[in-house]
Amino acid sequence: MAVLEIKKYPDKVLSEKTTPVNEFDSELQKLIDDMIETMYAAPGIGLAANQVGVSKRVAVIDVNATDEKSSLFVLVNPEIVHKEGANDSEEGCLSIPGYTTVIKRADEVKVEGLDRHGRPIEIEGSGLLARALQHEIDHLDGVLLIDRIGRIKREFFKKRYAKEKILSGE
Ligand code: NI
Repeated sequence: MAVLEIKKYPDKVLSEKTTPVNEFDSELQKLIDDMIETMYAAPGIGLAANQVGVSKRVAVIDVNATDEKSSLFVLVNPEIVHKEGANDSEEGCLSIPGYTTVIKRADEVKVEGLDRHGRPIEIEGSGLLARALQHEIDHLDGVLLIDRIGRIKREFFKKRYAKEKILSGE
């Protein structure tokens, strides 16, 4: 396994919709293992494949992030099939380091997809898990949290973020 480089905004791969997986081969298994290691190393509670530069519909989530893997979800070709309720909460993203913003998301979601071997799975989540599921599935659709804020906040973000990157010499 290997810790991969996490792509940062405004990398183009983050704003492109990922391609569904149809081969559950060793290459996919390696990608998933590397994504899990990269998520725990960050540390983060979720990671989408395009965040490591691979435009495939794969995400990993562990809202406990304890490295015990007891609450680890591997999602291949996930889709949200049901949403309920709404709440506002502060959210960040490994691809936009140092930035958090309040985002409105559904309280509860039901997700259908496949596991790493192509078997159908269904996950029902609420609270932080529901939020992580929506955040990662957004990534797979090429949507970042800054696409979910208002235009004025987004313009402010772009100016501020660009300035900070210049200051930090990136
Ligand atoms: Ni993210």
